[in-house]
Parts: sequence; C-alpha cells; structure tokens
Amino acid sequence: MHIPELANDVAEVLIGEEQIRQKVIELGARLSADYLGRELTLVSVLKGSLPFMADLMRAISIPVTIDLMEVSSYGGTATETSGLVRILKDLSASIEGRDVLVVEDIIDTGLTLNYLVRYLKGKNPRSLRICTLLDKPARRLVEIPIDYRGFEIPDQFVVGYGLDYGERYRNLPYIGVLKPEVYGGT
Ligand code: PRP
Repeated sequence: MHIPELANDVAEVLIGEEQIRQKVIELGARLSADYLGRELTLVSVLKGSLPFMADLMRAISIPVTIDLMEVSSYGGTATETSGLVRILKDLSASIEGRDVLVVEDIIDTGLTLNYLVRYLKGKNPRSLRICTLLDKPARRLVEIPIDYRGFEIPDQFVVGYGLDYGERYRNLPYIGVLKPEVYGGT
C-alpha cells in the first residue's frame, strides 16, 4: 500500500506493517490463552485505536464482545494532552461482572487512561486490564499498569495505524515519525 502524499511527511518508518502484524498475532495468542474459558469484553478508545482493535479482535480465538468509547482531552494542544477528559461516547452496554480489556493505541502521559480506568472500575467489571500497542514511557506523568504492551517507543511524534496529527495520517499502514517541520517542531 502506498500513499505518497502522506508518506512524504514521514521522516522515518518506526514500526513497519509486518512488524505490527506479527505483534498483533502474538498479543492475540497471549490474550486467547490468558482468558481461555472466559468471555472477554474489548473496550476500544476511539479514534486512534480503531485499526489496532480491528486487527487484534481477529487475532483472538476465544469469544469476545466489543464496545467503543470516545473521549477527548480538552485544554491541551494538537500534540499534548491536558489531563482533563470528557466522554464523547460512552459504553453502549453494561460491563458489570465482565472481564474487560481496554484497547489503546498509545499511552503517553497516561492521563487519559488514568481517568478511564477509574471510570470503568466504577462500573464493577469482574476484571480490568489494559492493552496498548504503543507505550511512550518517557512522557508518563501518572503510573499506569500495562498488562499487554506491543512496543515501547522513544519520545518522538508518531503517526499512522490510527494515530493522527490534526486528524490526518491515521490511514498510514505503519507507524512513522512525522517530520518536525510538519508540526512546527525543530
Ligand atoms: C490518544 C490516544 C490515547 C491518548 C494517550 O488519543 O489514543 O487515548 O492520546 O495520551 P495520554 O497518555 O497522554 O493521555 P487522542 O486524544 O489523540 O485522540 P484520538 O485517539 O481520537 O486521536
């Protein structure tokens, strides 16, 4: 797949399509084993985790149900979260007594998930774990217990495979580092 206009803004491919595919298969296998005999509820946080969720659910062999939430941080900038989280779309079904796995594309400061985990725990799930494709620990402000982690990445601004800058680049099939001049960095 080749998207020349978007790809021109990418300085470097950090994680390629095949690497993502392999990791998703590995995570799916681990989840299928860990939750064997149970039914898992995947809760994805839109919009960034959409491609990861779609691929991960197909790599899981046990029964799953899915639900989607959308949250937005406000008071931040295009590249920074603020810690103030607003729920734009809530769960559509109860998670009480269910084994819940939150599926995220990236954990950066951890502020979004910190809020979300407290919110979801208040709904009394049987268990609550976190799965993230990308972990950027250098920027963490609050500790988040990550149960399933795809890749640890350096403190670079990444786009693609769901991740955006100004709502663009989500459709790149790989994780790339955006050229600093694109977002006004150095
Ligand atoms: C991204 C990502 C996480 C959050 C992580 O979402 O999907 O939800 O930022 O950042 P944090 O750890 O610093 O809180 P974003 O707000 O960019 O929305 P999007 O998924 O719609 O792009």
